[in-house]
Amino acid sequence: MNYMVGKYSVRPAKVVSNIEIAKDIYILELEPLHLHEIPQPFNFFMIWVPRVDEIPLCIADFDGRKLKFLYKIRGDGTKALAKHYKDMMVGIKGPLGKGVNIRPTLNSKWLVIAGGIGIAPIPYLIKTWKNYGINIDLLWGVKTMDEIFNIYNFFPSSVGSKIILATEDCRYKNGYCGTVVDALRCIDVKEYNGIIAIGPNSMLKIICLELYELNPYIALETMVKCGMGICGSCYIKASDKLLCTDGPVFSCSEVIEHLRSSNINY
Ligand SMILES: Cc1cc2nc3c(=O)[nH]c(=O)nc-3n(C[C@H](O)[C@H](O)[C@H](O)COP(=O)(O)OP(=O)(O)OC[C@H]3O[C@@H](n4cnc5c(N)ncnc54)[C@H](O)[C@@H]3O)c2cc1C
Ligand code: FES
Repeated sequence: MNYMVGKYSVRPAKVVSNIEIAKDIYILELEPLHLHEIPQPFNFFMIWVPRVDEIPLCIADFDGRKLKFLYKIRGDGTKALAKHYKDMMVGIKGPLGKGVNIRPTLNSKWLVIAGGIGIAPIPYLIKTWKNYGINIDLLWGVKTMDEIFNIYNFFPSSVGSKIILATEDCRYKNGYCGTVVDALRCIDVKEYNGIIAIGPNSMLKIICLELYELNPYIALETMVKCGMGICGSCYIKASDKLLCTDGPVFSCSEVIEHLRSSNINY
């Protein structure tokens, strides 16, 4: 493998827009000079923020030319990214990872459970799978109501998917009052052909343990540095897998030991 060419080399991308759509949550739209291949849902890019850091972000939407990312401010890298406005340049490396790597059957019905900024890759999943005739119901849980944004407005191809909201501060009156796991316990998961969960490790651990017999898919987050299978920093404990080349989506049985042994809470 030549690491200096193709998707593993950093390429310039121009900021088209970068707007705050909820508290500390931004949509970044980029126009890359060249895209090596069409991204798949759950593929991620390393976004190089000049002079600060390189951070992994999942693709939230793609229109054939421009890439959209949804990100939450956490530390220096995301803070610096939020200060980039129209026509500024960043670097991108990708698409990386295997993406979703699931082949659902036509007309099947899937439940996606997202915690917090775990929502980021879901609009592109909904858009892509809709074209294959697959229906997605989304259960999205956040801590406080000010983290919510209107998914249908920002990602119109999500219209048609049922969205169930859960807030821990209980301020959103048309949804569940409690955690996403509380809300999940009120849903008949057996009516779905498949389940994908993404969010903080604490949430993923409970879902993987409680729904173990259904072997849901789990989209993990680990520390990604090189993004190309060299450094080993994204290693999934008790497995032979690397998140950056094998993931980020795994079956629950593949990552249960990693989740059990992990005390990291993203
Ligand atoms: C495959 C993948 C896809 C991701 N997609 C998204 C996304 O679409 N939207 C989004 O908001 N966030 C996403 N993240 C998390 C995002 O990469 C981190 O929030 C970001 O790197 C934090 O950088 P920082 O400099 O702002 O914060 P820092 O102060 O550097 O770190 C804050 C916390 O973020 C986490 N973190 C920091 N660096 C990394 C890293 N290189 N890899 C993984 N986690 C890190 C750690 O838990 C750390 O404690 C993704 C992570 C991975 C691994
Ligand atoms: S991030 Fe370096 S091996 Fe995965």
